[in-house]
Amino acid sequence: MNLLLGVNIDHVATLRQARYALLPDSPNAEPSPIDAAEDAKLGGADSITIHVRGDRRHMQEADAYRIKASTDLPINFEMGNTQEMIDIALKLQPKFICLVPETREEVTTEGGLDVAGLFDELSPTVKILQEAGMEISMFVDPDVCQIEASAKIGAEMVELHTGCFANAEKGCERDEELDRLRIAAQRGHELGIQVNAGHGINYENIQQIHAVPHLKELNIGHSIVARSVRVGFRQAVEEMRELMQGYNPEGAQV
Ligand code: PXP
Repeated sequence: MNLLLGVNIDHVATLRQARYALLPDSPNAEPSPIDAAEDAKLGGADSITIHVRGDRRHMQEADAYRIKASTDLPINFEMGNTQEMIDIALKLQPKFICLVPETREEVTTEGGLDVAGLFDELSPTVKILQEAGMEISMFVDPDVCQIEASAKIGAEMVELHTGCFANAEKGCERDEELDRLRIAAQRGHELGIQVNAGHGINYENIQQIHAVPHLKELNIGHSIVARSVRVGFRQAVEEMRELMQGYNPEGAQV
């Protein structure tokens, strides 16, 4: 079974917003997230991830509907736990939801969702979205208690936050973070929950991700968008896909 690739195209919209924040619907507004979704598919993406943030810094609500209408790839909709985002999700009807923490000040999603601590607030949201037919993922730090809380809340998936691993210095520090990912993935597998991973994965550190067992999907955005400046979006996706080949979910037992 191949490791699946979800391509996060938020930063295509970041580039557009850098020039067209006030005119995202202008005929000149570029680059187009719709084109990026199409190229991602041609490059071998299995799903398209988009995050409409409360502050609308990259993807706009209209982008989400247009991308969904333009592609036959499943949409993974990342969202904070707010009524506004629940309403958008119910209208958008993506296949997957990834619940993420969100604060205005952060540059990007900086930590995992505290599913254990916010259990009572998250529980109704999970239920509403599942009843509307969506599969739910919890974006969590690689902590066993968060994986256990995600299983208890009834989420179908967890996405392990790989940011600490990606930002750790190569050597002991990164190996320690890799161990945390390995242990968390193992626990998710034992609990029968699908285990995905994402954040900060790039063309270099992906090699070490192969050592994390039981992964089903990686969600990768920034490094692919950055690489696309040199080689084009489709090739950037193809190159990442290539580096994901040969993953053995059972071969990296903890
Ligand atoms: N997964 C989640 C939940 C995220 O919030 C992000 C960043 O938007 C990613 C994956 C992708 O991270 P990156 O852009 O660093 O590849």
